[in-house]
Amino acid sequence: IRTIGVMTSGGDSPGMNAAIRAVARACAYYNVKCIGFYRGFQGMIEGDHCVLNARSVRNIISSGGTILKSARSEEFRTPAGRKKAARHLKELDVDAMVLIGGDGTFRGGQIFSEEHDISVIGVPGTIDNDIAGTNYTIGYDTALNTVIDAIDKIRDTASSHDRLFFIEVMGRDSGFIALNTGVGAGAEEILIPEEDMGLDRLLESLKRSKRSGKSSSIVVVSEGDKIGKNVFELADYVTENLPDYDVRVTVLGHVQRGGSPTCFDRTLASRLCVKAVELLLDGEKNVMVGLLNNEIRMTSFEEGLKEDYGINKELLRISDILST
Ligand code: F6P
Repeated sequence: IRTIGVMTSGGDSPGMNAAIRAVARACAYYNVKCIGFYRGFQGMIEGDHCVLNARSVRNIISSGGTILKSARSEEFRTPAGRKKAARHLKELDVDAMVLIGGDGTFRGGQIFSEEHDISVIGVPGTIDNDIAGTNYTIGYDTALNTVIDAIDKIRDTASSHDRLFFIEVMGRDSGFIALNTGVGAGAEEILIPEEDMGLDRLLESLKRSKRSGKSSSIVVVSEGDKIGKNVFELADYVTENLPDYDVRVTVLGHVQRGGSPTCFDRTLASRLCVKAVELLLDGEKNVMVGLLNNEIRMTSFEEGLKEDYGINKELLRISDILST
């Protein structure tokens, strides 16, 4: 392997820069050329790239976002788009790629490596944590801390005004962020896509909270929640049915994707990306790397993309007990 390419794709996540840095530095250490592609697969299709040496990634370990930018490429979904990308990689002598991103990135990587003779290793980077081949994705820990900080602040004002807050957090189709921040911030209820709580149970639970003497409440709602209403409809429904409650809604949105990565995310990114480069140099290909039981492990893309990525529903029970 003479040249390794690196890119970040899909929704950005804090720690992606630490990951790029680790790829570039590991390449420099092992005397391999490193090329960064801008805007994920789209940059590969357009040949939009830069050479990354050890110094080009100085002082980025602490910054959020991604210096290589990120995007979701429609063109890469087509064989013609992927062919263009492969042609550019060949022209640049790139024989292996480190793809940093989430499930869409891994799907793209899998099909690309089947069609073209380019070794690919996926590194999980998304705030959603919805990848089966790792216990943690890069950016998830930072997002949890951002959300906790926001909920704590909302709790202050909820308590001063005796209000009920619905707080929507990200996670697309997975409830990791909602579940863990819900428990961590002591929410009264947590609504996640993996469990349909039902509107009646929600109303019952809120009535119980009130009866038990609580004057303010926090309900954390995952954006992909299965209850069948968005967070504003949910708030209206509760207002109609429980007029005693003064209800407010906060959608945390993209604030969850930014910020300086936590130490955990920086270390995770560093470990995974050094390993990704080493594996490529050892001839490994077409797998993802992840942290499983605190060890870096390889998993096939197929396994890594399994639906069952290990959401811990036990946390719902814990939350029920603790919000008594
Ligand atoms: O996958 C990361 C994520 O932030 C999800 O949690 C969210 O559903 C989605 O991306 C938002 O995408 P966009 O930035 O395109 O609005």
